[in-house]
Amino acid sequence: MKKKMISMMLCAAMTAAIAAGCGSKEADQAEAPATGADAEEGAEAPAENEEETEVSDGGTLVMATNAYFEPYEYYEGDQIVGIDAEMAAAVAEKLGMELKIEDMEFDSIIPAVNSGKADMGVAGMTVTEDRLVNVNFSNPYTTATQVIIVQEGSDITGEADLNGKMIGVQLGTTGDIYASDIEGAEIEQYNKGMDAVQALSNGMIDAVIIDNEPAKQFVSKAEGLKILEEEFVTEEYAIAFAKDNEELMEKVNAALDELIADGTIQSIIDKYITAE
Ligand code: ARG
Repeated sequence: MKKKMISMMLCAAMTAAIAAGCGSKEADQAEAPATGADAEEGAEAPAENEEETEVSDGGTLVMATNAYFEPYEYYEGDQIVGIDAEMAAAVAEKLGMELKIEDMEFDSIIPAVNSGKADMGVAGMTVTEDRLVNVNFSNPYTTATQVIIVQEGSDITGEADLNGKMIGVQLGTTGDIYASDIEGAEIEQYNKGMDAVQALSNGMIDAVIIDNEPAKQFVSKAEGLKILEEEFVTEEYAIAFAKDNEELMEKVNAALDELIADGTIQSIIDKYITAE
């Protein structure tokens, strides 16, 4: 405890930019984003912050994600940014913990949470009945939809036209699950959503089923693609926890409730998603 306080004080004494890297030991872990306000606070009033953090458990909050899912999580240089990253940073700050982000394949997130390699999965993850068998979910923090992306000249106008088509999805996502329910469709699974979109752009597949906001980002980065109007499933995103970690989930839920009530979550969302 003593040692920890000293290192925290040292940390606080550094500039905000350097402080963002305090406590990081592993090179493969991307740093949590610091909002401008947090960074300043940390630099100007370190003593107060320390008091608060000592009240809670402190320690590290490890978030598992798949950082190829803009605007929820993606790389800006070697830093993982996005709605989920900032939300998790805000939650960690409330709990007096240090956020560490572990980037992995999407279908490794639940196993990582269950094996204790990570404390929580934050990855634009949809609450589903099947996942609820293996993990608990926090209160939902946003809603999303699944959409279909096709080539601009495609004759596919909606889900009804997908029979007999080749559909690309990100492995292990709800898009993957919905696609596999479509009669007569052939599914191509990709590790990253953008890889599926690229394959569509190259004419290797006929459609991609993926979450609406990443769909917009991916389509804007590829050639000749459009998103169909039909949104065929509405989903809720929440944070995944191991079944035996209800204590942490309750703390995170309490922090989330406060961050929703005081508008922090909405302002994070608005920063990354601009209304058309
Ligand atoms: N919402 C979808 C799901 O839960 C896709 C999430 C993909 N997230 C990611 N970070 N790649 O299956």
